[in-house]
Amino acid sequence: MRIRVSNIVYGIATLVLFSFSIQAVPWEGLTSERLRLELETKFSEGQYSKKGADSCLMCHKKNATVMALFDGVHGQDSPANSPMAGLQCEACHGPLGKHNKGGKESMIAFGKESKLDAASQNSTCLGCHNDPKQMAWHSSSHNLDEVACVDCHKIHTAKDPVMDKLSVNDICTSCHAEVKAAMNKRSSHPMQWDQMTCIDCHNPHGSMGESALNQLTVNDTCYRCHAEKRGPFLWEHEPVVENCSTCHNPHGSINSTLLKSRAPLLCQQCHMDDGHASRVVPQDGQDAFGGGKSCLNCHSQIHGSNHPAGSKLQR
Ligand code: HEC
Ligand code: HEC
Ligand code: HEC
Ligand code: HEC
Ligand code: HEC
Ligand code: HEC
Ligand code: HEC
Ligand code: HEC
Ligand code: HEC
Ligand code: HEC
Repeated sequence: MRIRVSNIVYGIATLVLFSFSIQAVPWEGLTSERLRLELETKFSEGQYSKKGADSCLMCHKKNATVMALFDGVHGQDSPANSPMAGLQCEACHGPLGKHNKGGKESMIAFGKESKLDAASQNSTCLGCHNDPKQMAWHSSSHNLDEVACVDCHKIHTAKDPVMDKLSVNDICTSCHAEVKAAMNKRSSHPMQWDQMTCIDCHNPHGSMGESALNQLTVNDTCYRCHAEKRGPFLWEHEPVVENCSTCHNPHGSINSTLLKSRAPLLCQQCHMDDGHASRVVPQDGQDAFGGGKSCLNCHSQIHGSNHPAGSKLQR
């Protein structure tokens, strides 16, 4: 039997690769559960390094990502509660333990590749960020759906991109594809060019309002910028007072002015009983019902009227 040289070379190559990968991430093979147990033991032993960051940088300083920490807020030694003023790297990554002994023990790792679940990762951050501003986090759908703080935030960087108006929309829509589609439609809030962002209306950490809105209700959210729609009006239009998103999709629409559908259909969802409201609109669009703005040709004060004779929202 002849052993082919190429086989030997291949064998050596896999051996090298294999041993390299063992050395690269020694806990690669651990299940999430075992990793969690290992970290718990490590925390209970609490063997933090004596030299803090210096001991980590002995091995990690060639990694540009690691070093970028010092360009950002978490790499500064003030204020007093900042990581660098205390346990330093280990404030987030957990105690060194025997990690430096040939990389024997794992550290807390963050992000998509991490084997730790979102809740465990987040608890590290919440240890310091437990101010009232984060109160709504626990009941937020982001938390309940296991979104991690670091799905949005970067730590080892000079400027966290999610805190930047010019990149926050991109980060949000990387998960919320439907909203991305909507905001690029014919009419939308000016989000395509980042003049407006998701957090003009939403709190990414959750809120007391519905849909994680900044204000308690949809309407209060809209009134912040569209104050004239608040009224009070002599003649109100009920659905307007109730919920702007009955007729508008705040993220965008193929119809003009963010409308979910066009008149007359928009109106006929509710006004179908009888009379002219239920009139079938002629195809040729030659009269006041079919042409121009359809029902709005006459009922132009759709958000309410202050005219003494405006009860039918015509003036
Ligand atoms: C003796 C060398 C050595 C020391 C000292 C050391 N590490 Fe590591 N560390 C490694 C090796 C090797 C790996 C696995 C390869 C890699 O991801 O760079 C690793 C991996 C990591 C990872 C996981 C990276 C990932 O993507 O999964 C983190 C986090 C980490 N180290 C943090 C620290 C911290 C914090 C300290 C100081 C408290 C520290 N290390 C000290 C050698 C060391
Ligand atoms: C405030 C928490 C925090 C502190 C302090 C911190 N890290 Fe990290 N570290 C993270 C997060 C979160 C990530 C994931 C990448 C990111 O968000 O920037 C990370 C990623 C890493 C990685 C993996 C980098 C890679 O190439 O993917 C290493 C290694 C690491 N940190 C080491 C360190 C060392 C060494 C220090 C101290 C000099 C340190 N970290 C301080 C939170 C922290
Ligand atoms: C040891 C305490 C500590 C830990 C752990 C910690 N932080 Fe911080 N963080 C701080 C301090 C201190 C500041 C600066 C606050 C200030 O200046 O008011 C800060 C600031 C921030 C900011 C604002 C950044 C900016 O550019 O203004 C964000 C976002 C943040 N942290 C996210 C996180 C995330 C995500 C984690 C977990 C991976 C985390 N932090 C872990 C202490 C911590
Ligand atoms: C869905 C994305 C997202 C998630 C998940 C997220 N954040 Fe934020 N965070 C943001 C955005 C966007 C801002 C900027 C808010 C602003 O400018 O009003 C911010 C701001 C912050 C700030 C600085 C301002 C403040 O409110 O004090 C801190 C600290 C912070 N986040 C911590 C966290 C922590 C801790 C977690 C996890 C428990 C987390 N964030 C989860 C998107 C997110
Ligand atoms: C890592 C993926 C991810 C990122 C990034 C992300 N989200 Fe989410 N978001 C989710 C998931 C998962 C849910 C819950 C399921 C759903 O409603 O789609 C959710 C739900 C929401 C909801 C509905 C809340 C409710 O209570 O009904 C809003 C609003 C939201 N996200 C806004 C944002 C904003 C704003 C950003 C950017 C600052 C953002 N998301 C970034 C994954 C993400
Ligand atoms: C002008 C205010 C406004 C802006 C800007 C905005 N939203 Fe919304 N969003 C709302 C309102 C209002 C609702 C509730 C809609 C409802 O009740 O039908 C909502 C609902 C949501 C929901 C819940 C599911 C759904 O589609 O109804 C998600 C997810 C969401 N928004 C994500 C985002 C993201 C991501 C961005 C940024 C790209 C964003 N929103 C920008 C007002 C806004
Ligand atoms: C942060 C400010 C802000 C908030 C909050 C806000 N809007 Fe707007 N809205 C704008 C801006 C800016 C425009 C664009 C004005 C322009 O193009 O002249 C706009 C335009 C509109 C338009 C007309 C779009 C068009 O194509 O002509 C509608 C309809 C609208 N908003 C509805 C809403 C509704 C409904 C809400 C609440 C869910 C809301 N807005 C919340 C700022 C806001
Ligand atoms: C019954 C359906 C309906 C409801 C509910 C409604 N709108 Fe409208 N809205 C319309 C229609 C139809 C137009 C288009 C008017 C036109 O083309 O003359 C419009 C246009 C707009 C415009 C752009 C033109 C203008 O008048 O400034 C804004 C802004 C707006 N609505 C905001 C709101 C806000 C804020 C709310 C909640 C307080 C709301 N709308 C509730 C039907 C509605
Ligand atoms: C979500 C349901 C709904 C939608 C959509 C809706 N309306 Fe209304 N509208 C009502 C309700 C409820 C009232 C008040 C009760 C009533 O008198 O019928 C009302 C009242 C009116 C009135 C005054 C009626 C009166 O008898 O005083 C007019 C005119 C009117 N709507 C026109 C429109 C037009 C035009 C549209 C489309 C742009 C529209 N509505 C869309 C629910 C709706
Ligand atoms: C040519 C002008 C005109 C157009 C177009 C028009 N309306 Fe009217 N509408 C009126 C007038 C005038 C009244 C008041 C009738 C009265 O006082 O008896 C009225 C009354 C109403 C009322 C109050 C109840 C009733 O029947 O008296 C509703 C609801 C209504 N219109 C809905 C609609 C809807 C929905 C459309 C579109 C399909 C529409 N209108 C199109 C002129 C118009």
